[in-house]
Amino acid sequence: MKYDNISIKKEAPLAIITINRPTKLNALNKDTIKELHEAFKVLDKTKNVKAIILTGSGEKAFVAGADISEFASFSVKEGGKLAAKGQKLLFDFVENLNTPVIAAINGFALGGGLELAMSCHFRVASDNARMGLPEVSLGVIPGYGGTQRLPQLVGKGIAMEMIMTAGMIDANRALETGLVNHVIAQEELLDFCKKLGSKISNNSPVAIAYAIKAVNAGFKHESNGFAAEIKAFGACFGTADFEEGTSAFLEKRKADFPGA
Ligand code: COA
Repeated sequence: MKYDNISIKKEAPLAIITINRPTKLNALNKDTIKELHEAFKVLDKTKNVKAIILTGSGEKAFVAGADISEFASFSVKEGGKLAAKGQKLLFDFVENLNTPVIAAINGFALGGGLELAMSCHFRVASDNARMGLPEVSLGVIPGYGGTQRLPQLVGKGIAMEMIMTAGMIDANRALETGLVNHVIAQEELLDFCKKLGSKISNNSPVAIAYAIKAVNAGFKHESNGFAAEIKAFGACFGTADFEEGTSAFLEKRKADFPGA
C-alpha cells in the first residue's frame, strides 16, 4: 500500500509511525485511518518489529482530532457508521494488537487524537502537549472509544469533567491523572520512547502479547459501552446542535447552540 498520510521508519527492533498532515494538525481523515490500519497490520506481522511508536509530524500536534470537515454534513446513520468503522479499523485494532504500541504525544492530542493515544498500550507526552475531548463543543460526543477509555485511565469523575467542559489539560495534569506515564522535553520525546521500546524488545514477544490480551480482558464488561457510544454518537448527527457546532468550527466562529 502507498502511504500518503503517514510515514513508517523501521529501526529494528522498533518501528515509528508518524502521522503526516501537519497543515491540518494531523487530523484523522478516512484515508489516514485506513493507512494506519494497514501499517499496524503489517508491522504486527513483521518479525523484527518488537514495539511500535506512534507520533505526529511537526512540533504542534500529535493529532488534533477526527477531520471535522469530513463529517460535518453526516446523517445519523453515517455518524454511527463513522464511529463503528473507526473503532473496528483503528482504535480497537491498536488496543488489541500483539505488538506493544507507545503513543509519543508531541503536542495537541484532541478528540480522536486523544482517543487514538488512549488506544495505544501506554502514553508518553512532551512537555508542551495538551490533551482533551472537545467533542461536546461541536454538538457531538467522543465516538472513537473516548467515553470508555478515558474513565478507565483517569477515573470516572475526572473523565466526566474533561468530557463535559470540553477543556484541555496540560502534560503535567495528564501525568498526575495517569493519562500519560511520563512527561519529557519535546526534543527528547522520541529518544525516550525508543529507550522504552528497546527495553520491551528484550522480553518475550509471545508473553507480551498474552499479557496485552489478559490486561484488556479485565476491561471488557457484560454491557457494551462501546456499542452504546456508537449509538449515541450517531444520534448526535440528527441534532441542530451538531449542525451548529461543526458549522461554527469550519466558519471559525463561536457556536451558539440551539439546544435541541
Ligand atoms: N479537523 C479538521 N481540520 C482541523 C482540525 C480537525 N480536527 N484541527 C485543526 N484543523 C485545521 C484547521 O481547520 C486549520 O486549517 P486551515 O489552516 O486550512 O484553516 C489548521 O488545521 C490549523 O489549525 P488552527 O485552528 O488554525 O490552529 P490553532 O493553533 O489556531 O488551534 C487547535 C489549534 C487544536 C486548538 C484548533 O485547531 C482546534 O480546536 N481544532 C479542533 C479540535 C477538535 O475539536 N477536535 C475534535 C474533533 S472531533
